[in-house]
Amino acid sequence: MTRFVITAPRVITCDPARATEADALGVIEQGAVLVEGDTIAAVGTAVEISDRAGDAQVMAHDGLLTPGLVDAHTHAPFTGSRHIEYALRMAGAGYEEIAAAGGGIVSTMRAVRAAEATALTHELEWRAKRMHDHGVTTIECKSGYGLDLANERKQLEAVARASIAWPRLVPTYLALHALPPEANGDGDAYAERVAREWLPEIATAKLARFVDAYVDRGAFTVEQARLVLSRAKELGLGVRVHAGQFADVGAAELAAELGAASADHLEHVGERGLEAMAAAGVRAVLLPVASFTLKQEPPPIDAMRRAGVRLVVASDANPGTAPTESLPLAIALAVRSYGLTVAEALLGATREAAASLGLEHVCGALRPGLSGDFAMWNLPHEAAIVQPWGVWPVRAIIAKMAAYVFDLRSEL
Ligand code: NIG
Ligand code: FE
Repeated sequence: MTRFVITAPRVITCDPARATEADALGVIEQGAVLVEGDTIAAVGTAVEISDRAGDAQVMAHDGLLTPGLVDAHTHAPFTGSRHIEYALRMAGAGYEEIAAAGGGIVSTMRAVRAAEATALTHELEWRAKRMHDHGVTTIECKSGYGLDLANERKQLEAVARASIAWPRLVPTYLALHALPPEANGDGDAYAERVAREWLPEIATAKLARFVDAYVDRGAFTVEQARLVLSRAKELGLGVRVHAGQFADVGAAELAAELGAASADHLEHVGERGLEAMAAAGVRAVLLPVASFTLKQEPPPIDAMRRAGVRLVVASDANPGTAPTESLPLAIALAVRSYGLTVAEALLGATREAAASLGLEHVCGALRPGLSGDFAMWNLPHEAAIVQPWGVWPVRAIIAKMAAYVFDLRSEL
C-alpha cells in the first residue's frame, strides 16, 4: 500500500470540525497529511504527523495545500466553438434572442450530433485534464447538447469512458436544456417523451447520477420540469435545476419542493424561493463566469446568506455562456463580482460543492477517511488564489492514482 506524507507551510483543510468563527477554512500552519493507499489517514501539524508516519515517504511542498477542487456544474462533454455567437453578443445581440433564432445551445447540438463518439470522448478527456491542471479533481459533467436519446447517450457514454482515465467525473443527464428543431416548438410533448422514454433508459443504463432541467423564461416551464424531475426521483436519481438565470419563474421553489441537490445560477430569485431552498437544504450553485459573460447583475448574495442557503461556486464551463475551463477563475470572480469572502468562495469550490454532489464522504476536504486528492499551489496564502488572474498557479495535483503520485514526486 502506498504511504506518504505531504507537508506544507499552510494546509487548508475545509474540515468543519476544525473551523472556528475566525477561521472558516480550518487552516493548519506547518501542517501535514498522511495518506495510506487512496485515503487520508491523518491530518495535523507536521510534528503530530511525523510521529505517526514512520518510514512513509515525505513530500515537502513549500506553498499552499488545499483539497482537490470540486467543480459542481459544467457542460464539459461538448464539442465545437461558438465564437461567432460570442462576437454577435458582444456587439449587442442578446443570449435569449440568439437562442430563439436557432443558435446558442442548438448550434452546439449540431456539433455534438455530428461528432463521432470517440472524438467526443477524447475532447472530454483533454478538457478534464486541463481542468485537473487548474486544481480540480472532481467534475460534474452535464449532457444536454444531444437533445435526442441517441446523442444524449453519446455524451453520457463519453463521460463514462473518460472516467476510466479521470476519476470522479459525475454524470448528469441535462434532460431539458433546449428544444431540438424536430420538436416543432412543442415543449410539453418533448418533456413527456423525456419522462416516459429517454429518462428510464438512461437510468437503467446507469449513465447518470443526477438529472437537470433549465427552467426559465424562454426555456422550460415549472410544470414540464416537475414532470421530468419527479420521474428522475422515482428512478432513484438526484435532481439539479438551472434556475432563475434570466427571470424568476418559480424554479427555486420547484427545486425546494423536489428536494433538489442544487439550484444553479439564481441571478433572479425572490426571498420566498430562497427561504424554501434553505428549509429544504437545497444549495445555491453560483456561476459568476456566466453572469460576467452575459453582463448581468450578481445574484442576491446577502439575501442568500440571510436565508441560510449554502453557497457553491462552479465554472459552468460551456461554449456559450461560460467559455472557460478554470474553476479558479470562477472563484476569483465570485469574490470580485459577487462579494463572497475568500473562505466562502473556497468552501464553495470544495466542501460545499462535494456535498451538492452527494460526495461529502469522499472528497472536498482534508480529513481522515476522505480520498487523498490535493491541489498544491505555488502560492503563499489562500487569498492569493483570487488575484493573480489568468495564470496557472497550481504546481501539482495528486488524485486517486498511486502511479500519478509517483510521477509528481519526481518533479517536486
Ligand atoms: O448554464 N442556460 C443554460 N445553460 C447553460 C448555457 C449553455 C449554452 O449556452 O451552451 C448555462 O449557462
Ligand atoms: Fe449551466
